[in-house]
Amino acid sequence: MASSFGAAQVLVASNRGPVSYAVADDGSLRSKRGGGGLVSGLSAIGPESGALWVCSALSDGDREAVRRGVGEDGVRMLDIPAGVHADAYNGIANSVLWFVHHMLYQTPLEPVFDAEFRRRWASYETYNRAFAEALAEEAAEGAAVLVQDYHLTLVPGMLRELRPDLRIGHFSHTPWAPPEYFAMLPDDIARQVLRGMLGADRLGFLTRRWADAFTACCERFAGGLGDTRVGVHGLGADADLLRARSHEQDVEERIVALREEIGEGRRTIVRVDRTELSKNIVRGLLAYRQLLDDHPEWRERVVHVAFAYPSRQDLAVYRDYMAEVERVAEEINERYGTPGWRPVLLHLKDDFARSLAAYRLADVALVNPIRDGMNLVAKEVPLVSDTGCALVLSREAGAHEELGEDAITVNPYDVVQTGEALHEALSLGAEERTERCKRLAAAATALPPARWFLDQLEALRA
Ligand code: G6P
Repeated sequence: MASSFGAAQVLVASNRGPVSYAVADDGSLRSKRGGGGLVSGLSAIGPESGALWVCSALSDGDREAVRRGVGEDGVRMLDIPAGVHADAYNGIANSVLWFVHHMLYQTPLEPVFDAEFRRRWASYETYNRAFAEALAEEAAEGAAVLVQDYHLTLVPGMLRELRPDLRIGHFSHTPWAPPEYFAMLPDDIARQVLRGMLGADRLGFLTRRWADAFTACCERFAGGLGDTRVGVHGLGADADLLRARSHEQDVEERIVALREEIGEGRRTIVRVDRTELSKNIVRGLLAYRQLLDDHPEWRERVVHVAFAYPSRQDLAVYRDYMAEVERVAEEINERYGTPGWRPVLLHLKDDFARSLAAYRLADVALVNPIRDGMNLVAKEVPLVSDTGCALVLSREAGAHEELGEDAITVNPYDVVQTGEALHEALSLGAEERTERCKRLAAAATALPPARWFLDQLEALRA
């Protein structure tokens, strides 16, 4: 039997892989590499480790690459039919599981688990099975498999059946819903999700709070955790990479341009997010408006630099949310702006170099999510900011467990309190601000991506 096993000793599985493809006008394929914690983490074990990353084709370019046999060493992209992927990714992962774990439903009218939901769920099963089968095929005997996130909750259970010899881990980059909210899912689906996850030897979460919520769900709906172990690994910022990258020439150029837009001698309140419902960008703008009302002394002296980059635009609710962000920003600019002062500087086009430029210029970082697995921006800004920034941080962000002591904490729904927190942050004395920022940066880098990844691997093999 051993000869039928694959060769990979360490496998990672995630919906989005480290590389993507686009078909150029001349018909050739262009590849683009992505970043993120997992990419840095995996690089820690080096190319000789026999690692394989299994991911899904996400676009027509990706599917074309798979069909033409174009790819990278160490990456296997699955050619999942576009319709199945759309149902699984948009229809279930992003519209149901993401909403449940971030508690985003407007419950008087949603969710509605109807026949259409059941049809999409069948695609989610098909998509998870495609991953389980590919992993089963590629893994060497006794290999370690690290499955990522809510897209792939059924994979551990399916893989366990196909390959009982493997060490299977699963890591959640999101919060986990408390049992009362998780109970919204149809009973059989709730059980299926938990049993799928419990197929793993070990489950990882970003904070104790999300791990405890998962355990509570298992006690209530699945008769407990069984033999599965649960661990906490709080992903930190990649200090070396960020510090170096944020001093490259393109960032310096963006700083000059941003300074021009902000205006001489003004303070900055910076936020950088995907335009994501859970990030609470609209209430952030309302809190800024509250600041201008309650503390008019800040008018003309501060600019809210808000970068809200497109995300999940296949979903109407995300497109609507982006429009609402634009509308509220525009309203503030019209109402408060003066000939020499634009109170909100909103940019919607993704530009990593400009994000880093904003980090460097930040006097205050605003991170006010409704709920967030970790929130790396909260860790990155203090690390990169030139003069030391103050951090206004939602108590519902996972990062709050690690940064709460030196941040100014807010209830993300309370825009009056958040406005006051912005005032307090802008008013901190230089020395206190610098000291707090140093401690924030130290806490933010306590568990760099490489360590985060290796710890999980070691714990899984132990
Ligand atoms: C955030 C979450 C991750 C998730 C990712 C997916 O970063 O923290 O858990 O995997 O979004 O984003 P995507 O653009 O792939 O839908």
